[in-house]
Amino acid sequence: MIVTKNLEKSFNDEAVLKGVSLEISDGEFVSIMGKSGSGKSTLISIIGGFLKPDKGEAYVNDRCLINCKENELAELRCTELGFVFQAFKLIPTLNVIDNILLPLTLSHKDTKENREYVMSLVKELEIEDMLKKLPSQLSGGQCQRVAIVRALSYKPSIIILDEPTGALDTTMEEAVMKLLARINKEQGTTIVQVTHSERVASYGTRIIKIKDGKIDE
Ligand SMILES: Nc1ncnc2c1ncn2[C@@H]1O[C@H](COP(=O)(O)OP(=O)(O)OP(=O)(O)O)[C@@H](O)[C@H]1O
Ligand SMILES: [Mg+2]
Repeated sequence: MIVTKNLEKSFNDEAVLKGVSLEISDGEFVSIMGKSGSGKSTLISIIGGFLKPDKGEAYVNDRCLINCKENELAELRCTELGFVFQAFKLIPTLNVIDNILLPLTLSHKDTKENREYVMSLVKELEIEDMLKKLPSQLSGGQCQRVAIVRALSYKPSIIILDEPTGALDTTMEEAVMKLLARINKEQGTTIVQVTHSERVASYGTRIIKIKDGKIDE
């Protein structure tokens, strides 16, 4: 469950979020849409615990993010919450498979069973030939798929993705969206994705629009 209450955030005196309140229930598949610069990444960065709002409240699975310590947030991100950044944020010094396994390693869950699950995702998104490469040796779309597998690897109950198919061709876009829809359906995973694409948004069950720093009802 994700809840925000009256979130406000400004950068350099420019108000980006002007009171954003929303509720996303367990098992929902939500698409957040809105113009470039409207505050979509800012909003999900707050929900992911990467950014503090100036005012307002944010809760993930009943945990108040505003008061959370950095180590609690780090733990949350290896267990309950998966996050795919618009800029992927792979670790440049780790190869693909070590990037993917990092959350499982950090949370001491690099088991045979979990590795098998990871390898099934690797296969599904066609990155098995890149496992020993460094992120700098990959294309944008390849990095994007690695970041998605990394976020799914530990079966978090919530996955937040910032334009998850922005760097992909239509075939891979479909593969990613089908994977997300299946995980949503079969594992009951809550999915929150930011997208500019009506086609990508249509895989979800609800659209939240952001306009002028507020939810556009
Ligand atoms: N760290 C920051 N420092 C200063 N300004 C920022 C920062 N992050 C975001 N902004 C500004 O806040 C506004 C909203 O940015 P945000 O990244 O949330 O937009 P967005 O809706 O995700 O856009 P896009 O669709 O282009 O990704 C923009 O005007 C941006 O310049
Ligand atoms: Mg953005």
